[in-house]
Amino acid sequence: MMIKENQSLLTFNTFGIDVNARHFSEVFSPGDLKEVFESHPSASHPHLVLGGGSNILFTSDFPGLVIKVSLKGIEVVEENEREVLVKAAAGEDWDQFVSYCVLHGWGGLENLSQIPGQVGSSPIQNIGAYGAELKDCFESLEAWGKSSGQIRQFSAEACRFGYRDSIFKREARGKYVILSVSFRLGKKSHKLKLGYGAIQAEFQNRGISQPTIADVREVICSLRRSKLPDPHVTGNAGSFFKNPVVEQSVFELLKAEYPGLVAFPDKGGMKLAAGWLIEKAGWKGFREGDAGVHPRQALVLVNYGNANGLEIAALSEKIKDSVRKMFGVELETEVNII
Ligand code: FAD
Ligand code: EPU
Repeated sequence: MMIKENQSLLTFNTFGIDVNARHFSEVFSPGDLKEVFESHPSASHPHLVLGGGSNILFTSDFPGLVIKVSLKGIEVVEENEREVLVKAAAGEDWDQFVSYCVLHGWGGLENLSQIPGQVGSSPIQNIGAYGAELKDCFESLEAWGKSSGQIRQFSAEACRFGYRDSIFKREARGKYVILSVSFRLGKKSHKLKLGYGAIQAEFQNRGISQPTIADVREVICSLRRSKLPDPHVTGNAGSFFKNPVVEQSVFELLKAEYPGLVAFPDKGGMKLAAGWLIEKAGWKGFREGDAGVHPRQALVLVNYGNANGLEIAALSEKIKDSVRKMFGVELETEVNII
């Protein structure tokens, strides 16, 4: 286990922000973690646990220790004719894991294809896309408690999953390092989730009436490629904001004023398409220096090359202000600003 000094984080975050970590260590086992925490206790060194860096915006050099999680391994824990319980280590690449499951004919994660990042980060914001969320197949996770040094198991209930939310963004924030995540996936009896309009339309276009798990993955990858910028080409962290949920009465007032408003029923009211609000407020395709709003998806802020984190964060504040002024709606940031 090595601790490097003044490590550039440029290739460790998908926004492509050029900052340094004062100390940096890559951990491959729980033993490495223990060693790293013993040598750099959190009381004297701020810590940041890093996966694929695809949901992070760095606004300055990190003054403490960045711990890059690289624990590997995929294991079948239980299997019968109907389902399989599969456990993946935190450092596995999320999409490679999804692809592995799809190749084995295990269903449940296919709608979450092509989301960047690692398995260990996936429960933190209960990743979601195309009508599915991680919690739908989640069985449990193992996490290492920073203060106790003990491994604890979390059930789905203990994780308190919500829309882009879990206990790890609230009470347990920064207190655990997730080591592995287990999923219960379906075999022959698996029911595909095809409710999302764009998926149905694409199957119709392709003339596919009885799609397989692999077909769903294929269609979702192609939809995502057509909508979202590739971080290898243009720096970004996916949706910068969450879609805001407002009460039905607020939605009705807004809809009367803006008949084109896009919204979907959600627990507790209506979920508004933040991309629509931001586009309507005039930001889509906006660019100032190298910080901008993506021309095909207004919910995605981008770094065209040399923007720094403060410039992107400042742009995000201007967007929030203008959406608040125009619609009276508060946008909540999804990306972790460090
Ligand atoms: P990081 O960015 O490295 O970390 C995110 C947070 O988790 C940080 O707070 C970090 O400290 C913490 N963390 C990371 N690993 C661990 C660990 N092992 N233990 C404890 N804490 C940890 N998200 C969606 O939900 N749906 C989408 O459709 C989606 N599409 C995206 C598309 C693009 C092009 C991009 C760039 C991002 C997209 N995202 C999406 C956001 C992102 O991919 C997910 O949030 C992903 O789970 C982040 O994983 P990561 O490993 O990169 O996490
Ligand atoms: N829209 C616009 N203008 C835009 C963008 C969107 O009007 O510039 C409207 C369109 O009407 C569109 C609707 O918003 O029909 C929804 O857009 P889209 O299907 O692209 O989804 P989204 O709500 O913008 C969410 C997630 C994505 C996820 C997709 C697909 C959030 C914050 N974002 O985006 O997740 O991939 O749905 O399910 O919930 C992420 O979290 O990083 C992320 C990319």
